[in-house]
Amino acid sequence: MAKILIVDDDASLRRVLEYNLAEEGYAVATAASGEEALEVLGRSSFDLVLTDIKMEGIGGMELLARVRRDTPETQVIVITAFGTIEMAVEAMKAGAFEYVTKPFNRDELKLAVRKALRVQHLERDNVRLRREVSTRFEVKNIIGDSEPMQHVFRLIEKVADTAAAVLITGDSGTGKELVARALHYGSGRAERPFLTVNCAAIPRELLESELFGHKKGSFTGAIRDKKGKFEEAHGGTLFLDEIGDLPIELQAKILRALQEMEVTPVGSNEMVRVDVRILAATNRDLEERIEEGAFREDLYYRLAVVPIHMPSLRERPDDIPLLVTHFLGTLAPGQPVRVTPDAMAALQRYPWRGNVRELQNTLERLLILRDGDTLGLDALPDKIRHPAPDPGHGAFSFHFPPEGVGLEEAERALIMEALRRAGWNQSRAAQLLKVPRHILLYRMGKFAIPRKSPDD
Ligand SMILES: Nc1ncnc2c1ncn2[C@@H]1O[C@H](COP(=O)(O)OP(=O)(O)OP(=O)(O)O)[C@@H](O)[C@H]1O
Ligand SMILES: [Mg+2]
Repeated sequence: MAKILIVDDDASLRRVLEYNLAEEGYAVATAASGEEALEVLGRSSFDLVLTDIKMEGIGGMELLARVRRDTPETQVIVITAFGTIEMAVEAMKAGAFEYVTKPFNRDELKLAVRKALRVQHLERDNVRLRREVSTRFEVKNIIGDSEPMQHVFRLIEKVADTAAAVLITGDSGTGKELVARALHYGSGRAERPFLTVNCAAIPRELLESELFGHKKGSFTGAIRDKKGKFEEAHGGTLFLDEIGDLPIELQAKILRALQEMEVTPVGSNEMVRVDVRILAATNRDLEERIEEGAFREDLYYRLAVVPIHMPSLRERPDDIPLLVTHFLGTLAPGQPVRVTPDAMAALQRYPWRGNVRELQNTLERLLILRDGDTLGLDALPDKIRHPAPDPGHGAFSFHFPPEGVGLEEAERALIMEALRRAGWNQSRAAQLLKVPRHILLYRMGKFAIPRKSPDD
């Protein structure tokens, strides 16, 4: 049932309108002023607002402007007194769907309402369809069929269309940014901005102004007022990339912004209200940063309402053939290139420390250098054909060597393998070994295993 809000300061007119529209089967609510209308609109949504133009306080024109801005899918019909056609024209220019003049003709009124609701319906469907297309499009860009990726897809589907802050972790090149986009385009904010701030790439002195904006003259070079990304992303999503590199002095400010949904531009003492969904990503071990005192624990919990961990490519070698086919298709469209089975097997064995990005770059190079339409083992770079055994420890194997193996030696190899698979993220490695992180750290100490990868 369509919902209509009638706004008029004349009680008898309100009653007549209400009676006529309720008779048509609409759900009708009324408000006696612009102020009351805004209150009602803040509480629930309407398909159509029918408002008088001339009212004390917030008039019909201002109400129209607010409705167009805040809920563009709601249609507005304005009521003008006979003979004030200029007002009606102004209202149409400002986005009203139609105007009716009073005293009004009942049939004319009902027809206008019916038309407005039909258009409203079409527009709403349109927005919904566009949203569905963009969601499918965005999630479709993330290639993977392995269990860890299925898990990621399920999480995306569950949390995309919520307000929850999501912290995306994972090694470099695992697709964190793709996930952030999929979350935005799968949400009700899809039509509003998606903005990114890379906390590692912007010098500390500029980062604060980038995030919160600044007032003219607040520092050398601030030649005019500038809005920050929080404000620019209003109604949409702000993606804080490389959040692990956020300087500690700014962490408190971000935390406040998230808690209060208010920001203070540099050099200003006025707060600006914002409505943004926050997504963050990092390839650092934030729990370790917290222990080091480089990251605030309270901010961490605020950002990681829903954590999504992106698996490294070496944890999901089954996805490599899919990714290879996908990239060959997009990098060389219309030119079928075949990968021989032994070459594919080598690509699956290679540890891909740079993850999907490294795979993508490697294929791009191979496509340029190839002769013919087959990529065989001999086309692959040496390091992929013969991956070096992992330095510092023997390759771990579940096969029990015939001559036996020391228990401690096996434990050390297992820990090394878990660290390698977790990209030396200790919390993640502890998860893989199903022990608390402090136990892992203790064992690492016992075996004198360094905290960082020996290759770095
Ligand atoms: N599952 C995937 N399917 C298709 N392409 C992917 C996938 N994962 C990553 N990519 C591609 O790999 C590249 C790197 O991905 P992305 O920028 O999202 O990684 P990241 O995790 O943000 O890396 P970094 O930590 O280095 O910023 C991009 O070109 C992206 O399109
Ligand atoms: Mg990234």
